[in-house]
Amino acid sequence: MDKIIIEGGRALSGTVRVSGAKNAVLPILTATILAGGEHTITNVPDLKDVRTIKRLLIDFGAKISEDREKLVAETSRIDRFEAPYDLVRTMRASILVLGPLLGRLGRARVSLPGGCAIGARPINLHLMGMERLGAKIELKHGYVEATAKRLKGAEINLELPTVTGTENIMMAAAVAEGTSTILNAAREPEVEDLAIFLNSMGAKIEGAGTATINIEGVSSLTPGTHSVVPDRIETGTFMAAAAITRGDIIIKGAHIDHLAAVARKFEAAGVKIEPHGDDIRVMGPERPSPVDIDTMPYPGFPTDMQAQFMALLSLADGSSVITERIFENRFMHVGELKRMGADIKLMGNTALIRGVKELGAAPVMATDLRASASLVLAALAAKGASEVHRVYHLDRGYESLERKLGGLGAKIQRVPS
Ligand code: EPU
Repeated sequence: MDKIIIEGGRALSGTVRVSGAKNAVLPILTATILAGGEHTITNVPDLKDVRTIKRLLIDFGAKISEDREKLVAETSRIDRFEAPYDLVRTMRASILVLGPLLGRLGRARVSLPGGCAIGARPINLHLMGMERLGAKIELKHGYVEATAKRLKGAEINLELPTVTGTENIMMAAAVAEGTSTILNAAREPEVEDLAIFLNSMGAKIEGAGTATINIEGVSSLTPGTHSVVPDRIETGTFMAAAAITRGDIIIKGAHIDHLAAVARKFEAAGVKIEPHGDDIRVMGPERPSPVDIDTMPYPGFPTDMQAQFMALLSLADGSSVITERIFENRFMHVGELKRMGADIKLMGNTALIRGVKELGAAPVMATDLRASASLVLAALAAKGASEVHRVYHLDRGYESLERKLGGLGAKIQRVPS
């Protein structure tokens, strides 16, 4: 397995460009299943998770061609409908094929994702949504087997505003007979981006980005064209990289509006943020101030930035409290940050972070995507050379991270196994 070696202690400077959002491109690619023909998607990041979704689409019968960040999915012939365990266990977002397969073929067989490093992550709300739309759901031998003659519009009230659940339901309801309403829908920008793509295919979706989404089902969709929204979590991670290294960087092609809650916390920590159109200048403080954070569904502070902020706050001049309210087990980075000298105490879903003056380099191991990012950040600030192991987690969601950080002056190197 590859590892990354980082020689910490250098202030980052220069310019970095943000890639398309992982969590937007995944449902957008599965949505291409809904209409046969040639879909064109641009600003597609080169990520392991994107490659996994492409493999699923090809398994179902699609043809995919790519030219740098432009992807063409030809989906005229989709005649298989099984997402096997081997793929789903590497990426839970594979569940996003459920709604589109049901909508296109009236049939889907998807391996149950099971638990993962950050929590149990059930899919009961996805299944409830499909049932409300008239699908018959059976759980057999570790698989969800779903069938429907023609989906029927319904009102679906989500107990929790699940992101991929909202997306799955929206995709299925787009081709259901009649009108659907999703109440307590997830409001994440990635949900809105998917709705824009679906509407480019002829869907009639209103209210995506708010808690109530109305979908007037249509009998068929046509191929769509779309440019994927910039990745707000990648943007936030680079902001944290500038902040933790006392750097001064410009992040290009970002959407600061999607980062309002994150920007507020950075500013409270003493980070200077200057947006200029789609560019953001970020300047790190001499030492961050302590900040308390509760993760929340959008527009609250994202759980996907929690680990990166913890790395920053571990160097704060005082104590911070982080409460994780989305996933019950998303503190796997704590033990590794402590190995680098951080002073963090865990109490259930709350972490008390007593800031230390400096972190020390250490070999560390990543357990999930954002935990890996927090270790990279800590290593950028730590004195000496740190080794971050299990880099494949980073490759799932950050495009060319070491090249981009290297371009900002970080001393970072990937060592192939
Ligand atoms: N939940 C249920 N039942 C369900 C679905 C969700 O109880 O049927 C619970 C979850 O256990 C969790 C909460 O609802 O406690 C929210 O989970 P959600 O379904 O919103 O998460 P997700 O859709 O599986 C997406 C992102 C995650 C991100 C979360 C929260 C994608 C592909 N993944 O996951 O991204 O953390 O929303 O914002 O969009 C990442 O990029 O590192 C990542 C993990």
